[in-house]
Amino acid sequence: MKPARAILFALIAAVWSAGHGWAQQPAPPALRAPDVRFEPTATDVVQAMLRLGKVGGRDVVYDLGCGDGRIVISAARRFGARGVCVDIDPQRIEESRENARKAGVIDRIQFRNEDLLATDIGDATVVMLFLSPGLNLRLRARLLRELRPGTRVVSHWHDMDDWKPQETVRVRSDGRERPIYLWTIPAR
Ligand SMILES: C[S@@+](CC[C@H](N)C(=O)[O-])C[C@H]1O[C@@H](n2cnc3c(N)ncnc32)[C@H](O)[C@@H]1O
Repeated sequence: MKPARAILFALIAAVWSAGHGWAQQPAPPALRAPDVRFEPTATDVVQAMLRLGKVGGRDVVYDLGCGDGRIVISAARRFGARGVCVDIDPQRIEESRENARKAGVIDRIQFRNEDLLATDIGDATVVMLFLSPGLNLRLRARLLRELRPGTRVVSHWHDMDDWKPQETVRVRSDGRERPIYLWTIPAR
């Protein structure tokens, strides 16, 4: 092909692909709107959640509604835990993946663009939550049915109604007392 014609072809291809989204890979469409909007847990509260959940190197830490992945990434970085980031919003999953890559722990984490009410949680040893009172209650029966006895559940801010926590810690962060609750799945 003559150079002038090749340049013309390249120009047409560039303009066409920009218009059709080839230049940038768009995130896949969301499954449905999130039940709770993204609000990240502050770093000091994340650390307190990991302490309360007694996270260690043998744990598999799930964050149901993981946002930018900070809780699971911190568990992997600080303690060598493995983890699963679940979020219904594909943009959050992309952010989590990128943050895990930058933190050097991408090999320890699985990323799921799924509904937390439907995702498989059976291999978790610790489950982290920062959701809403209603969503905690919708999850509660699943947690009690599907998690193995001894699995710890830690929730930032929201409790589980009449399932009383075994421990509550209050962390002063951003000028507010932020409660964190711990439950352990009982023997069946
Ligand atoms: C308050 S943010 C918490 C983010 C993170 N866990 C943290 O503490 O930093 C709640 C997250 O839950 C996600 N979410 C809401 N409804 C969901 C659902 N049904 N399934 C999965 N993720 C959901 C939102 O997209 C958002 O990222």
